[in-house]
Amino acid sequence: MEQIHGNTEGIRKTLLSELAFFYDMETEPDDFASRDMVALLARYSALLNREVAVYLSRGGDVLDVVVGESGQVTLPSLRLRRSEKRLSRVRVLHTHPGGTARLSDVDLNALCQLRLDAICAIGVSPDGTANGLSAAFIAGWTGERPEVEQTPVFPPFRFPRREWMEKIAQLDLLIPDTGETAPQAERAVLVSIRDDASLKELEALAESAGALPVGVFVQKRPRPDGATYIGSGKAAELALRAQALDATMILCDDELTGVQLHQLEEITGVKVVDRTNLILDIFAQRARTREGKLQVSLAQLKYQMTHLVGFGLSLSRLAGGIGTRGPGETKLEMDRRLIRRRYTQLERELKEVKAQRGLQRKARVRSQIRTAALVGYTNAGKSTLFNRLTDGQALVMDQLFATLDATTRRVETENGIPYLLTDTVGFITNLPTDLIEAFQSTLEEAAMADLLLIVTDAGNPESPAQRRVVDEVLEKLGATGQPRLEVLNKADIALPEVRAAFPDACEVSALNGEGLDGLSAAIQEKLRGETVKARLRIPYERMKAAALAHGLSQEAEERYEDDCLYLTAVFSRENWQRFCAEAERILPIDEDSCELINDEDQEKRC
Ligand code: GTP
Repeated sequence: MEQIHGNTEGIRKTLLSELAFFYDMETEPDDFASRDMVALLARYSALLNREVAVYLSRGGDVLDVVVGESGQVTLPSLRLRRSEKRLSRVRVLHTHPGGTARLSDVDLNALCQLRLDAICAIGVSPDGTANGLSAAFIAGWTGERPEVEQTPVFPPFRFPRREWMEKIAQLDLLIPDTGETAPQAERAVLVSIRDDASLKELEALAESAGALPVGVFVQKRPRPDGATYIGSGKAAELALRAQALDATMILCDDELTGVQLHQLEEITGVKVVDRTNLILDIFAQRARTREGKLQVSLAQLKYQMTHLVGFGLSLSRLAGGIGTRGPGETKLEMDRRLIRRRYTQLERELKEVKAQRGLQRKARVRSQIRTAALVGYTNAGKSTLFNRLTDGQALVMDQLFATLDATTRRVETENGIPYLLTDTVGFITNLPTDLIEAFQSTLEEAAMADLLLIVTDAGNPESPAQRRVVDEVLEKLGATGQPRLEVLNKADIALPEVRAAFPDACEVSALNGEGLDGLSAAIQEKLRGETVKARLRIPYERMKAAALAHGLSQEAEERYEDDCLYLTAVFSRENWQRFCAEAERILPIDEDSCELINDEDQEKRC
């Protein structure tokens, strides 16, 4: 049975199946509405004492039947608009029970919002007869605003039905066809079965993915409905909501099964994206390294595999391509085979990239340059801080790090210790399992860093909880051994309770620069403990010592004088000790030959 949408609560099943009769009614393409349709709409409206609306295509087919309040218009599966100004090729006929045929503001608003061909109101008398009929059309545009043209109220069966259809055809021609609409932000309704902070996070995720959250729909329930996530009744309500908000996407705050995705899309007629797929999308947009991209692609393929099972859904489901059983099954098998083949290919590529990266890491370890990584929950302000700290600093162009992306830069502390600072992708709660691997790859650089700058948002009451997530992820990554620096960002909007939770943190505002000097000093302090910068004076007959210094230090500067070579080099503490031990045999390290520049603890000359 075709579905009747809207507020059907309390309506007998027999009556609902009678209403479904509208779907079988035929209207000639050049007829605005048949007499029978007008009469029946009035009759059922009086019987139910509710508004009844039918949605008619330009060709005369009934696309939808809705019972409910005026303004609660719905157009499931009717995303027909080719541009913002083009008409939807759908007209709505609806009733005003116990009222006149005058169109209300809500009606006119729906006309404009949905770019309907026309909206028509039928006044219904208490005896169930139509007492009049009027319509409104979009007659043109003033800039972005539609101009509405209203007709007078006509007797119910003596309105210019053919002229109105001609008018619609002409109006359509007046609107220039701009072809495809320029890509616009997807309008998303956020849907959750909990009313908590995670919904706020979903909003932020939606924005990160480039969508525009236009509404929230919460249906509290202890566990998701197996078929539709929120329950079928609520799903129908959601369809209305999505329609009223002109949404192009429904975003669910959990990972949905293939069944749930499919059902919800069927009922609402709007693309449904779950939390996992949304995060995958963000990762896909953000992955910068080849390895990260490969990992995300693999995770996406895994997701597609698990959401294909049991359905004739094609891979292009989200673009609207829905397969069916029978031939659909064949397509499904084909899709599966294609996915598997692609998966194996990606896995092979990934292996190669990993091997290559291993070599690069070894080279970097040899070079001993210090690394620091900014990590933290999403939106903590890592990137803003990264830009502040690296302002005016050179991009890494060193051969060794040629494959590193633009988010790693070389920075120098006040006293000249160079280090590489890496910005990382933000952490999030309940990272879907398939993504953990992809996530790890993006963060591997961070896990290897010599210093972790853990950034927390001082203006977010959820920060203490989010900080725990950060710890969990770091632990999973094995990034637990290195020194850490707690950074409380957004000092300008700090909440006292968050401040109290991080008493030892370095407080900064990446936005206005407050506290950055203190942070730089703290970074220097942490790195200083790890590094030794020395100026060496090496007589020319002992040049082997210079070669040794080059081999063990991360950066060296040379100055040739008459009697000797002056070499300024930065060593890791460990390598400095090795240098001292080995050089002793070639060059006695004494105060004439060596000066430690940055190590206050060891101010004495060796
Ligand atoms: P992800 O990329 O999602 O991990 O985020 P992120 O941690 O890199 O945060 P990002 O730097 O993108 O900043 C997030 C938002 O916080 C932006 O709107 C920034 O303008 C804002 N922001 C960053 N630092 C500050 C600050 O010190 N004060 C205030 N008020 N806002 C800030």
